[in-house]
Amino acid sequence: MCGIVGYIGHREAYPLIINGLKRLEYRGYDSAGIALYDGSNIQLAKTKGKVVDLEEKADKEITKKGNLGIGHTRWATHGVPNDVNSHPHYSNSGELVIIHNGIIENYASIKQELISRGYVFHSDTDTEVLVNLIEEIKKKQDVKLGKAVQIALNEVVGAYAIAVFDQNKPNEIVVAKLGSPLAIGLGNDEFFIASDASPFIEYTNNAIYLEDEQMAVIRLGREIRIRKIKNDTRIKPFVHELKLNIEQIEKGGYDHFMLKEIYEQPSVIKDTYRGRLLADQGIIKIGGLEEYIPKFVNADRIIIVACGTSWHAGLVAEYTFEDWARIPVEVEYASEFRYRNPVITEKDVVIAISQSGETADTLAAIKLAKEKGAFVYGICNVVGSTISRETHSGTYTHAGPEIGVASTKAFTTQITVLTMIALKLAHVKGTISKSDYMMHLRELDAIPVYVEKALERNGEIKEIASVFKDSPNFLYLGRGYNFPVALEGALKLKEISYIHAEGYPAAEMKHGPIALIDEQMPVVVVAINSNHYEKVVSNIQEIKARKGKIIAVVTQGDTVVRELADFVMEVPKTPETLTPLVTTIPLQLLSYHIAVMLDKNVDQPRNLAKSVTVE
Ligand code: AGP
Repeated sequence: MCGIVGYIGHREAYPLIINGLKRLEYRGYDSAGIALYDGSNIQLAKTKGKVVDLEEKADKEITKKGNLGIGHTRWATHGVPNDVNSHPHYSNSGELVIIHNGIIENYASIKQELISRGYVFHSDTDTEVLVNLIEEIKKKQDVKLGKAVQIALNEVVGAYAIAVFDQNKPNEIVVAKLGSPLAIGLGNDEFFIASDASPFIEYTNNAIYLEDEQMAVIRLGREIRIRKIKNDTRIKPFVHELKLNIEQIEKGGYDHFMLKEIYEQPSVIKDTYRGRLLADQGIIKIGGLEEYIPKFVNADRIIIVACGTSWHAGLVAEYTFEDWARIPVEVEYASEFRYRNPVITEKDVVIAISQSGETADTLAAIKLAKEKGAFVYGICNVVGSTISRETHSGTYTHAGPEIGVASTKAFTTQITVLTMIALKLAHVKGTISKSDYMMHLRELDAIPVYVEKALERNGEIKEIASVFKDSPNFLYLGRGYNFPVALEGALKLKEISYIHAEGYPAAEMKHGPIALIDEQMPVVVVAINSNHYEKVVSNIQEIKARKGKIIAVVTQGDTVVRELADFVMEVPKTPETLTPLVTTIPLQLLSYHIAVMLDKNVDQPRNLAKSVTVE
C-alpha cells in the first residue's frame, strides 16, 4: 500500500505535494519521491527513507518550482526500498513520469518484451515497466498520453492507482484506478490527486473517487473527463462533498487504525494471493519458494520460529503442513528457541514469521539456525526488513502497513501465505488428492468473500462486547485448527483491553482450567462445523453445567450450539482447514469493541510497541 499525491493548477506544487505525502505516510514510508514540471523540464528527486529525507534531498537536487507535479510515499512490494526503486519513475526517453500504488502481476513478461525492443531498466519495480509500456504505445501508435495509458492498462493484469504526465504536454495529468484508491480533488481551476482526501481537504472538499477500471485525463481549463478503461465509455462522475477531518480520512473514516485494518482483511488477503494463487488453473506460484521446493520436500522437519501473533500463525501452519504435506513441523517461540541450544541440522528448514521483520528474538533465532546449517525462509510484511534480508529466501505478505499495535491483517495474510505453501508442497509431494487440492484453491480464492460475511456480524458482536466488557477474566477454547485461533483471540483481548484471558485446547478443560468456571467466567468457544464438533459441544455442556457464560463462534446456520450458548457469533461455512481465516474475525471485533467500551488506547496499548526490537 503506497501513498500517491498529484497537483495541477495555479499554486506551487512542491509544498502541497510534500505536505500531502506526509499525511499519507501511514500508507507506506520506506521511500519517497517527487517530480515537478518547472516550465521546461522535469525536476525529480527520490530517496529511500521518509518524506523528511526527501525534503533534504530535494533541497540539494532540484528547483522546487512548478505548478504541475506528482509525489509518492512507498510501501515496497517489488524491489527492496532504495533510491532507484523509489517512485516517481521516468520512461526511457525521460519525457514521462509515473507514480503507482498497486501490483502489476504480469510485469515480468512485459519487461522482457520491452527489453527486446531496446528498453533499459534501472529499477526492480513493476512500475518502471508500466511507464515504458505507455511510452512504447504512445510512440509506436502515435497516440496521446491518455490513449496510450488506456491501451497499456488493457494489457496489464493487477492492481493500480497511477498518475502520469508528459513533459511535452504539461497542462494535463492522466490518472487511472483498479484495486487501489484514487481521489480527485476539484478546486477552482486546479485539481488534486491523492490516495485519499487528506492531502487536499483544506483546499477543497469536493472530491471524485474513481471507481475500478476508470481513468481520467485531467486538463487545466477543462472539466474533468472520466472514461472506462475497457471500452472508453464516458462516465459522469459523482462529486462528493466531504465532511471528514484529516485524522478521520487517514483512518478511512474508522475510529481506529485497528478497526480499519480488521476491515482491510478481505482486500489484503486478496492482495497477498494475487498473482500467486491461480485457482482455476490449479496453480500456486510463489516467487521466493519455487527454487527451494526440494529443500522443503526433502526436509527432516520444518521448524517455525516467531513471537506473539506470528507464532499463532505458525501454529496454524503446523496443522496444515502436517495434514496436507506430511512434513513434521515444530513451532517454537523464537525467544525460547534461541537460548535452549536446539538440535538443528542441515536437513532442517526453518520458517521465520514476522510482520515487522525486526523482532529481535526472531532475528536471533534465524541467525542461530543459519549458523547450524539450516535453510531459513522468511514470511514478512515489511519489504527489505532485517529479517527479510537475513533469511535465504522468503515470501512477503501484502498486508500494507499495520499501524495498530494489535496485529490483525498481518495474522490472516501470514496464514494465507502459509496455506499456499502447504498446499503447494502437498501437491508436489502427491500427498493431497487432486480434487482436495483444487477444492482448497477455490475455497482459498473465495476467502475474502467469507471474511466480508464474517465482518457483517459486527453489530451483533458489539452487543456481546457490551455484556461482557467488565468481566475480569476470559477463557478462549478451540480444537484442532482453531486451537491457535483461541490463543490469538485471548491475546487480542489481553493486549488492548488489559483483561486477563487465556487460550486453551478445549479438551484441556478437564485437566485443570474447568476449576475456573463459574457464572463470572465468560468462555469464548470456537465451535464451528468440524471433525471435533461433537466433542466441542460436550465441552460446552461441561461449562454450562458449571454456570459458565458461553460465547460461541459457530458456522452459519448452526442450531445445536445456538441452543446451548448464551451468545453466538456466526461465520460462513468453509473447509475446516481454512477456518482460522474466518473464525479469527469475530474474536478481533469482540476484543476491539470491549477495549473501546473500556476507553483503552486501542491503537497504542500501554506497555506495548508495534515492533519489539529489544530482547
Ligand atoms: C500481536 O498483536 C502483538 N502486537 C505481538 O504479539 C506481535 O505479534 C509480536 O511482537 C511479533 O511481531 P512481528 O510479527 O513483527 O515479529
